[in-house]
Amino acid sequence: MRRETEGIVSEESLDPEDWESMRELGQKMLGDMLTYLKTVRDRPVWQGVPDEIKAHFSKRLPQNPQSPEAIYREFVEKVLPYPLGNIHPRFWGWAVGTGTIMGALAELLAASMNSIAGGGNQSASYVETQVVDWIKEMLGFPASASGLLTSGCSAANLIGLAVARNVKAGYDLRRKGLQKASARMTLYASQEIHSSIQQAVELLGLGSDALHLVSMNDRFQIDLEALKAAISRDRKDGSLPFCVVGAAGTINTGGIDNLNALADICQRENLWFHVDGAFGAWAALAPNAKDKVTGMERADSLALDLHKWMYMPYEIGCVLVQSEEGHRKTFALTPAYLAHGEGGRGIDGADLPWPIDYDFLLSRRFRGLKAWMSLKEHGSRKYGRLIQQNINQASYLGELIAARSELKLSAPVTLNVVCFRYVTSSVDDAVLDELNKRIVTELQEQGTAVLSGTTIRGRYVMRVACVNHRSRREDFDILIQELVRVGKELTTSGSKGSST
Ligand SMILES: Cc1ncc(COP(=O)(O)O)c(C=O)c1O
Repeated sequence: MRRETEGIVSEESLDPEDWESMRELGQKMLGDMLTYLKTVRDRPVWQGVPDEIKAHFSKRLPQNPQSPEAIYREFVEKVLPYPLGNIHPRFWGWAVGTGTIMGALAELLAASMNSIAGGGNQSASYVETQVVDWIKEMLGFPASASGLLTSGCSAANLIGLAVARNVKAGYDLRRKGLQKASARMTLYASQEIHSSIQQAVELLGLGSDALHLVSMNDRFQIDLEALKAAISRDRKDGSLPFCVVGAAGTINTGGIDNLNALADICQRENLWFHVDGAFGAWAALAPNAKDKVTGMERADSLALDLHKWMYMPYEIGCVLVQSEEGHRKTFALTPAYLAHGEGGRGIDGADLPWPIDYDFLLSRRFRGLKAWMSLKEHGSRKYGRLIQQNINQASYLGELIAARSELKLSAPVTLNVVCFRYVTSSVDDAVLDELNKRIVTELQEQGTAVLSGTTIRGRYVMRVACVNHRSRREDFDILIQELVRVGKELTTSGSKGSST
């Protein structure tokens, strides 16, 4: 409360006036959230935001204080019941991770410390450096590589490609810009590469025409002959091919490019090899799948997430770059007010590299703490087992689909992604597209399961991506049972509708 007596203003802060009631509220929040997470399986996966709740969010800016207890009540009533649903065991949409309890608690600790993890003589620098070192170790990168924790894989892709562009330009691109390029710089990826690669290419000023989307083979891998032909054609035309982007797990089908073959091509052609391993990179930990991503460790840069297949709470991704120098020289810019000290003395005297020298961000949250605590809590072997479990669950779902005449796989199940269609012989493909879309929506609306959709060879398909440590085999049984029921209901009501 602001008090003013005889012209003297008592100073305010944002700390609670009553610490004891805030402590009680904090303990209640923590208890409620643990119960909420423990009971997640008992609730529908998802429910839409009702109109009256939407309307609630158009209220005017509060100008005066409200009690923390009332604000928390409002959160419990208006916010908590309407999440995206990705903490639920039957959420398999896009490639969205589940999060963990320890991860959530670590976020509370990091937010309480409110460290900005840009470097300097503070514990966050040491924690994050250790996390990056552990990531290098798990994914086969040398200790000499640089690494940076990011908000996610989109940022990691952008950073990796920025380094590629600057290193391969052959002149001081940072100073002169792309305007001074003597040849058009081009790069290559398969048709199923993630959209964040195109966004990075656009943001880097290369223009999306510079990104050649190469055709794929029937295992949804980049066609190596087509790639070589595209590179040689561009060279003949006077362009400067500079980079190939390989996929370690495409978003659509989980397809993994032949990474060793791409590394060989890049070596021969003097191209930068970037790998987008958002989730698939972590197959490296799975006892029976690690061979699928061999060659990834030969990448010049590797982008990946920990909030997908390492199950950590949003947001946390990482980029690793073999050339520490190339990485630093792409970003480091140290004005006088950000000078780094030396020798372990003073707040800026860290004996470690500063993350801000490898990033375009200056303010960086302490996202490494949740990774550090989670990796300690479970150990890398358990992560490997869980990733393998998801891969096995995807194969199991593939078998369930193959056993049903109403369902048809749309792509081979190579990792943790399953694409399939509900089929009936009586209708054409365009009608089936609509039917499959309706099944996905119906399963969401009924709160049974969240799948997403995509297009394969021009046809809509349903898609399950399992990066969920809470899923069990019985969840896939429920999915198939309910999906076929909904499919039949929609087909029957559709045919009744069309006959009237
Ligand atoms: C293959 C792939 N690359 C990049 C991304 C972008 O990652 P993020 O959402 O962490 O920015 C995704 C997201 O799903 C992805 O699946």
